[in-house]
Amino acid sequence: MSKKPIRVAVTGAAGQIGYSLLFRIASGSMFGPDQPVALNLIEIEPAMGALEGVMMELDDCAFPLLADVRGSCDLNEGFKDVNWALLVGSVPRKAGMERGDLLNINGKIFTGQGQAIEKNAASDVRTVVVGNPCNTNCLIAMNNAKSIPQDRWFAMTRLDENRAITQLASKAGVHSTEVTNMTIWGNHSATQYPDFYNAKIGGKPAAEVINDEGWLKDTFIPVVQQRGAAIIKARGSSSAASAANAVVDTVRSLTTPTAPGNWNSVAVCSKGEYDTKPGLITSLPIVSDGTNWSVAENVPVNEFSRAKIDASVDELATEHDLVKGLL
Ligand code: NAD
Ligand code: LMR
Repeated sequence: MSKKPIRVAVTGAAGQIGYSLLFRIASGSMFGPDQPVALNLIEIEPAMGALEGVMMELDDCAFPLLADVRGSCDLNEGFKDVNWALLVGSVPRKAGMERGDLLNINGKIFTGQGQAIEKNAASDVRTVVVGNPCNTNCLIAMNNAKSIPQDRWFAMTRLDENRAITQLASKAGVHSTEVTNMTIWGNHSATQYPDFYNAKIGGKPAAEVINDEGWLKDTFIPVVQQRGAAIIKARGSSSAASAANAVVDTVRSLTTPTAPGNWNSVAVCSKGEYDTKPGLITSLPIVSDGTNWSVAENVPVNEFSRAKIDASVDELATEHDLVKGLL
């Protein structure tokens, strides 16, 4: 292996998402086919036996790109020298719950993890929070690691973007690759706003191609907002393989140049772009040059979109107030 491996920490590595995600990372899907990777797998003590089994399976794949695998329930050891920290480990919601209901259970996990990342990770560490409610958990971790620049903290709304793309593609009768510029604004929750006004299908405005505003407002939006709950109802447990796929997509989009004119959805620390509240982890349209990212500029926000974005940002502000003591 000529290149230095990228070291990636994954928390909750023995969980459902972990079981899909680790094998995608190790096979090269996340960082490309010529980039070696090393995995730091983090679990809580009772799950260390299961983690050992997952590590045996990783061994049994003989992945050419996998340079090293370490398992630990010690956060200092787990985040040692990592370039990426993927914070998945936490409790998923059950049927009938909203993601925000998990704040009391999961929020505190992210104080210690933020502190351990700050103390132990590599100087270029970037963190993606997946565990719900992911925006506010990311806010907690970021605020417990104040020496790490705020532009290195992300929460995942890519699964929502991918869901929205497929809904639009299927309504228009085209392949998902035809759908671009799909913004999810705000919170990864039932208030998120999948912005069909700025989405494009085959380069044309999606609303023009679909030509059914009633469907876009009254079916498309709630279907995307409620897709997580629909999966829980159908499967009996929350989305896992599609969530792992979205983690791969998120990191890939941040580390490779965005196609000209397009963008992707990632929740980042707002600086007040598009009149969102500075300091909150808010999903925005993001472009990358492969190294640095920025918020896409001049995306039109009409009155309908404004109200939807404001509602989701207000919910983030409420979540912020609930966890003030952890920041
Ligand atoms: P899971 O219960 O199958 O696995 C979670 C794992 O985390 C378990 O193995 C558990 O032992 C471990 N864990 C718990 N607390 C931990 C801690 N403090 N440190 C390290 N590990 C810990 O759950 P899952 O289905 O893999 O989902 C994980 C999280 O991801 C949930 O909060 C879920 O709601 C969330 N999720 C988010 C998205 C998104 O789009 N942002 C999508 C799907 C799931
Ligand atoms: C999802 O969107 O599938 C996840 O956030 C899990 C959930 O609770 O909905």
